[in-house]
Amino acid sequence: MKALVLAGGSGTRLRPITHTSAKQLVPVANKPVLFYGLEAIAAAGVREVGIVVGDTSDEITEAVGDGSKFGLDVSYIPQPKPLGLAHAVLVARDYLGEDDFVMYLGDNFVVGGIDGPIRDFRAARPDAHLLLTHVSDPRSFGVAELDATGRVRSLEEKPAHPRSDLALVGVYLFTPAIHEAVRAVKPSWRGELEITDAVQWLIDVGHDVRSTQITGYWKDTGNVADMLEVNRLVLEETEARHEGLVDQHSTLIGRVRIEEGAEVRNSRVVGPAVIGANAVVAGSYVGPFTSIAEDCLVEDSEVEFSIVLRGASISGVRRIEASLIGRHVRVTSAPPVPHAHRLVLGDHSKAQISS
Ligand code: TTP
Repeated sequence: MKALVLAGGSGTRLRPITHTSAKQLVPVANKPVLFYGLEAIAAAGVREVGIVVGDTSDEITEAVGDGSKFGLDVSYIPQPKPLGLAHAVLVARDYLGEDDFVMYLGDNFVVGGIDGPIRDFRAARPDAHLLLTHVSDPRSFGVAELDATGRVRSLEEKPAHPRSDLALVGVYLFTPAIHEAVRAVKPSWRGELEITDAVQWLIDVGHDVRSTQITGYWKDTGNVADMLEVNRLVLEETEARHEGLVDQHSTLIGRVRIEEGAEVRNSRVVGPAVIGANAVVAGSYVGPFTSIAEDCLVEDSEVEFSIVLRGASISGVRRIEASLIGRHVRVTSAPPVPHAHRLVLGDHSKAQISS
């Protein structure tokens, strides 16, 4: 069995955070989301991984390398344009050969790994096997309808009137039967070759499509609330580990991970939280569900339930909450000003001023 990991696409929706970086490399608890997927694949005993790459190929290649640090043998498969998930299977045809494969969307996050679904697939070996999860609003997902025996009867991409609340998770298990399906489907209204259409094609021609239902799934929908939520989920599992320096005037409460070279001085850190390598936290409070990435500086500030990316600095600000702060951002306190507002506002702008 092989794995096909999709890390192409342009990542426009998370901008400006992904402006200079692939969305699959956005860190969750200081580790790129893609790495969790690769670790889950390795843990399920799959070694050969083809990664589909697009515009951000250089960054993905630099981050993952030959895959040996994950115990994987990684090949890269260029996709000239992000023309859909089924198109990614088309471009990977030669790499996949006649092997069964797990297709894993590189920006998705499955809590608890994929060993269980892979076991289910291997035991029954249907033509395709989907991972599903119950969601409260299925309209922004691919939605599956099951028959009385649990087989998948139909799939719909982002239906206005969903037939169930079972959403497709970004992990699919396929036999080589999928290759004929991806060749058969036509582009959808959004101009993409949809994997849901390809799987529907399999169902329509009488193939056996089954599913496993999982809990603990996260999909990047491009909004900060989702990023904070997956960060929270991962931090929930964090073990305390102190590899950096914590001075005697500091207090660490709960599960706090201090990475190598980090320094915590005269501060209070309440876990679960992670302070990245070579970051400095001084005279500050860092609250639960916060990830401070490597090389950051937090001084004389309070940060809680937030993600602070590499090289950012926060100085003299209280309090920052539910925030996502990009790489090398500088947040400082505004100098005290007299009570007057000096405004230069362009035509038609809106300003809200508390006074
Ligand atoms: P998304 O663009 O999120 O695909 P989606 O169909 O899930 O999006 P939407 O939320 O609009 O339904 O891409 C999922 C992953 O697959 C992401 O890591 C980028 C990658 N990808 C490719 O590698 N090639 C492609 O052609 C597309 C569309 C996505």
